[in-house]
Amino acid sequence: MDWKPNRHAVISIHRQITDRIKALIERGDWSTDMRIPPQRKLAEEFGVNRSTIQTALDELKADGYLEGRVGSGIYVTGNAWNLLMDQARPNWQRHIETGVHKPNYHTIQLINDYEQKDDIIRLGTGELSPDLLPARELEESLRSITLDARAIGYSSPQGSIKLREALSARLEKRGITVSSDNILIVSGALQALQLIAVGLLEEGATVFQEGPSYLNSVHPFQSAGMRMQAVNRAETLSSTIRSLKGQSLFYCVPTLNNPTGYSWTVEEKKSFYTLCRDARIPIIEDDVYQELQFGEGSPPLKAMDEAGHVLYLGSVSKTLSPGLRIGWIVAPTPVIKRLADIKMQTDYGSSAFSQEIVAHWMMSGRYDRHVERLRTRLQERAERMEKILLRQYQDIATWNRPSGGFYIWIRFHAPIVNKALFLKALQRKVLLNPGYIYDPGDAHHIRLSFAYASLDEMEIGLHQLRKIIEERRDAP
Ligand SMILES: Cc1ncc(COP(=O)(O)O)c(C=O)c1O
Repeated sequence: MDWKPNRHAVISIHRQITDRIKALIERGDWSTDMRIPPQRKLAEEFGVNRSTIQTALDELKADGYLEGRVGSGIYVTGNAWNLLMDQARPNWQRHIETGVHKPNYHTIQLINDYEQKDDIIRLGTGELSPDLLPARELEESLRSITLDARAIGYSSPQGSIKLREALSARLEKRGITVSSDNILIVSGALQALQLIAVGLLEEGATVFQEGPSYLNSVHPFQSAGMRMQAVNRAETLSSTIRSLKGQSLFYCVPTLNNPTGYSWTVEEKKSFYTLCRDARIPIIEDDVYQELQFGEGSPPLKAMDEAGHVLYLGSVSKTLSPGLRIGWIVAPTPVIKRLADIKMQTDYGSSAFSQEIVAHWMMSGRYDRHVERLRTRLQERAERMEKILLRQYQDIATWNRPSGGFYIWIRFHAPIVNKALFLKALQRKVLLNPGYIYDPGDAHHIRLSFAYASLDEMEIGLHQLRKIIEERRDAP
């Protein structure tokens, strides 16, 4: 060993020696269980006195790198190398636990994992089944799209003007009169929520929502330090809410709610809008299911908004393809500019290629024709699921007839919906969306979706679920 401590260094001599010995262990020069040279020899080699060596060795023993064995000297411990490696590696677990974004609930992590498996019956999935997605038509439409090279570079901050103009024309038909300047294209409605959370609210602001809520199954506001407060709509008038200090806003899905499938009546929409406007609580209207109403349907809250009070969200995820990742926010221009600025810092704009496709579908009439067919097929599926429920579940549960969208929010008379039921169903290859992911205290509901499973799978899956419920009821 041709190494000596530096007497002029700021680090003490004995510390330099402990570091040197650790380096020898780390490199494997001093291996596990090796007997180290005697203290006298080390003192000579390092050119220091024995007491300095003793101090260094005592410290290394105390830290678990070395151990004395009676009558036979000092040895490198079996664990020394691991200890050093652990110190050298970043403590990722700590980083993971302290990262600002909240993790998903364990049940949702399992849902996300199991949704990837082919042999699972997905009774709750909030996504169109592959046979409802227009893959062939999309493929075919690509041949009719001419691409200007500039249109597939980075997108402009607010998104493709062509798409925004097409959207502004569509929104007009729903009673929402806005120009393309009031529209920001985003990578799905979920990104809209994230942008609003970090761009428009201070930490500690309150986000009101009705329970149960889609917002409990994702955490854009919670992760940005906002407080979530479940209230019923009428409470918006209450003095607690009015006397609230600091910012607040109300998140809602007034048409075809996720998870309940419920739509507010026009009167409910009107009175809620007026309450919020008078209480100066801005509204986020999440309207991703608007075009999937089976009947005539009711207009969005945004159609009543003359005061720029409602931030309106839409998306093609539930109608055309979630894989395109295209959604939009409609809001007053200063809000759009602020959110567009943050979006550019987040992802330099949504996929320009996806935007070209959506613009083409909307402008060519393909989109309307597709959505029309889709509504009919969803309605057929809803009727089929209801028939199965009437046959097998009428004695143990209640539900509302769906008026559109994807979901039936089934309520069991007994509080049987818990993690154990979810896991038992998973064992039998049936994937459920239990109510407790939308309302932590809920033990009565399951969100069923008639949009994903095939008709045969619906039959088999619901039959399995009924059997599991009975087995669990009969179990001692
Ligand atoms: C109410 C609601 N909002 C937003 C989203 C997310 O939509 P996107 O795919 O456009 O991000 C969903 C998807 O399940 C939803 O149900």
